[in-house]
Amino acid sequence: MALTLLLAWRAARDRLIAAGIDSPVLDARMLLGQAASVTREVMLTDPYRELSEAQQTALEALLQRREAREPISHILGIKPFWTLEFSVGPDVLTPRPETEFLIQAALEGLPKDALGEVLDLGTGSGAIVLTLLHERPGLTGIGLDCSAAALRIAAANAEALGLAQRCQWLQGDWRDAPIRPFRRILANPPYIASGEIDGLEPEVARFEPRLALDGGDDGLEAYRAIAPLLAQRLADDGLVLLEVGAGQAQAVQVLLVEAGLEISEVRRDLGAQARVVIAKK
Ligand SMILES: C[S@@+](CC[C@H](N)C(=O)[O-])C[C@H]1O[C@@H](n2cnc3c(N)ncnc32)[C@H](O)[C@@H]1O
Repeated sequence: MALTLLLAWRAARDRLIAAGIDSPVLDARMLLGQAASVTREVMLTDPYRELSEAQQTALEALLQRREAREPISHILGIKPFWTLEFSVGPDVLTPRPETEFLIQAALEGLPKDALGEVLDLGTGSGAIVLTLLHERPGLTGIGLDCSAAALRIAAANAEALGLAQRCQWLQGDWRDAPIRPFRRILANPPYIASGEIDGLEPEVARFEPRLALDGGDDGLEAYRAIAPLLAQRLADDGLVLLEVGAGQAQAVQVLLVEAGLEISEVRRDLGAQARVVIAKK
């Protein structure tokens, strides 16, 4: 029997359910879309379109990767974030929806025509700094990361989004961040306690870069390193915005206060979990 889009989608969905994937309906659609080069609209309006042999082979290969728990973002090579799309892969953390809270908080109070420079510590795919530059055309930015491979992806994202002229990439450790008055300093540093990483879902534990996850024994190592660097690099009217993991907001506030900053707000996500710690001079 010929394999139609509808039958292929159903079979893919059932295999992903059996593999324990938590979004089988959506993932099956995206993998089929990729393998058969069709949009969601085509799947809905032309469900009896037949897959070629090559498309069936491509779908099988993609399904096997997803069954092995490779993240859908790695398989497709892209991840939507905010209103943009970022190239991603094994060398960068796939940007997370919770990081959009960081973006939202950073944009509030920054007028559309804001000028100045923003610093993104641990930029990975560049999602944070590039989204800010996209939203505020008068800003320039620096994305710092110790991973050269991550910065290559960030630079490619900047090119693809037409933002390369306004963003610089700096390979180095936190302490290599340039000393000048930034209007916003943002970071989503690694914050998972080392001992907890292997217990995370396989998509994260096995496929995301360890460097992007590992926050040391208690998950707070990066905040301890970053906090003392901030006051020297913040404009007088600037803000520091740090994403934090579950249960870390209090400890991070203490680190920031010890580093001479004043806490202006702790922002909670939709699940009421403290997500972003905001501080000023
Ligand atoms: C949690 S990921 C965040 C990536 C991206 N900013 C995001 O929100 O999607 C943390 C990033 O920090 C970088 N990183 C880890 N340790 C670092 C260090 N000591 N100095 C600079 N960057 C570091 C990692 O390479 C990784 O890209």
